[in-house]
Amino acid sequence: MAVHASGPIVLIGAGNMGGAMLAGWLKSGISGSDLLVIDPGPPPAMAKLIADNGARHETAAPADLKAGVLFLAVKPQMMGAVLPPLKGLVGPETVVVSVAAGTTLSFMQSHLGDAAMVRAMPNTPAMIGRGVTGAFANGAVSSAQRDLVHNLLKVSGPVEWVETEADIDAVTAVSGSGPAYVFYLVECMAEAGRKAGLQADLAMRLARETVAGAGELCTSPPMTPQSFART
Ligand SMILES: NC(=O)c1ccc[n+]([C@@H]2O[C@H](COP(=O)([O-])OP(=O)(O)OC[C@H]3O[C@@H](n4cnc5c(N)ncnc54)[C@H](OP(=O)(O)O)[C@@H]3O)[C@@H](O)[C@H]2O)c1
Repeated sequence: MAVHASGPIVLIGAGNMGGAMLAGWLKSGISGSDLLVIDPGPPPAMAKLIADNGARHETAAPADLKAGVLFLAVKPQMMGAVLPPLKGLVGPETVVVSVAAGTTLSFMQSHLGDAAMVRAMPNTPAMIGRGVTGAFANGAVSSAQRDLVHNLLKVSGPVEWVETEADIDAVTAVSGSGPAYVFYLVECMAEAGRKAGLQADLAMRLARETVAGAGELCTSPPMTPQSFART
């Protein structure tokens, strides 16, 4: 994927979600030379991915640089400490993207200024390129920046843009948190099978494959989830 950003894509936090995005960007053809990762201690697999692909890694924000995209992937409770030193990375051409649950645009603006900003909510299947992401752009985001962010987010699956910032909380409830409910459903199905007399490992295999298969069927045209619910 070609990147048309005014500066590097700067990823803040290369943990579960940031790492999934980074791996997806590199797999999609973005060059390591377009990427700067800032993380005081990335997991070893991420440190290797960064080094193997010639991306730049720093433990803190460099002073002499403006980001094309500033992509925030740290825990929400860390944002208050993480944002202030990043203000120098934000220039007039920068678009800020945050995947932090519950962290509002006004909170980010209070630390980074009135920049072009996107709040995005991916989900954990992003780790295998099968996620889905909801995103909201503020009024300062240009159509070129929105296209750029769309392309960066879609490496982990489809991207759905929403109309209001409040919609992001609903996205968090449905798809952001959704995989955890599905995993719990698998546990419940396996437990029910075990209680009905199946070996525990067999019950778990049946439950996992059932949910995986039903999920695939759910998104296979021309059938819809409604049509399956009636069968
Ligand atoms: N996981 C999900 O299902 C999911 C879904 C949607 C959105 N999100 C959002 O994604 C964000 C990240 O979640 P995660 O699960 O990926 O967290 P995570 O695995 O803990 O990753 C965060 C990374 O940021 C690093 N970090 C800590 N302080 C930093 C700093 N000052 N500058 C740069 N990097 C720093 C952490 O290093 P240390 O480990 O050394 O502290 C860690 O490598 C959260 O805001 C969450 O709401 C997560």
